[in-house]
Amino acid sequence: MKKPVKGIFISIEGIDGSGKTSALNTLKARLSYHGFFVHTTREPGGSPLGEKIRELILNEKMSARTELLLFNAGRSDHIEVTIQQHLEQRHVVISDRFMDSSYAYQGFGRGMEEEALILEEMVVNNDYPDYTLYFKISIGESVKRVNKRGNVTGDINRLDKETLDFKERVLEGYTKREHRYVIFDAEKDIVDVHSDIINWVDNVFAPAHPLIEEETEQKE
Ligand code: TYD
Repeated sequence: MKKPVKGIFISIEGIDGSGKTSALNTLKARLSYHGFFVHTTREPGGSPLGEKIRELILNEKMSARTELLLFNAGRSDHIEVTIQQHLEQRHVVISDRFMDSSYAYQGFGRGMEEEALILEEMVVNNDYPDYTLYFKISIGESVKRVNKRGNVTGDINRLDKETLDFKERVLEGYTKREHRYVIFDAEKDIVDVHSDIINWVDNVFAPAHPLIEEETEQKE
């Protein structure tokens, strides 16, 4: 089989409380089990400069336009400094959120779809994810989970505090792009969601992916 020149880029998306982050851990574990080298990252953040921008976005008051620009500035650095480097080394990169978050939160939540699309084209350009896994839940379930998490950890940021109306628009934004995603029903019991992820990995990547064969060849 011809050796791929690049790794695989996977993004994880969903409204707050969809269980993305624990899903990411299961995804990483399963890919590693099959022999892939996996790098996990996140947005906002993902590079030293991106993490500084994250602090600003999540904690400072700013206009919707500034927020959209900062998310995209952080993404630009994240792509150049982190994602492209790992893909060149033929790693699997999993990002907890990527450009679909800007489309849903800023494009729909803040009513800037056109601007979000212009920036997406400029910033993401040739670096679209190979797969986007979308963890789908209702607004009701999201609110319930975010409140519970906030009560336990006190970990509620500026965007978590947005109105119900905002959250509904964000969901609408995600829904508009469903044709692009691999969709997981995240309202299911967590054990079932995780076994859906494992099945997806096994079906799509195992047992004979060219990237794994190369790793094995190098070891011999
Ligand atoms: P974070 O603490 O990482 O939460 P989560 O676990 O939900 O990912 O906060 C990130 C917040 O930023 C989240 O509310 C979604 C929002 N966001 C945007 O509004 N636009 C974006 O482009 C990205 C990447 C995130």
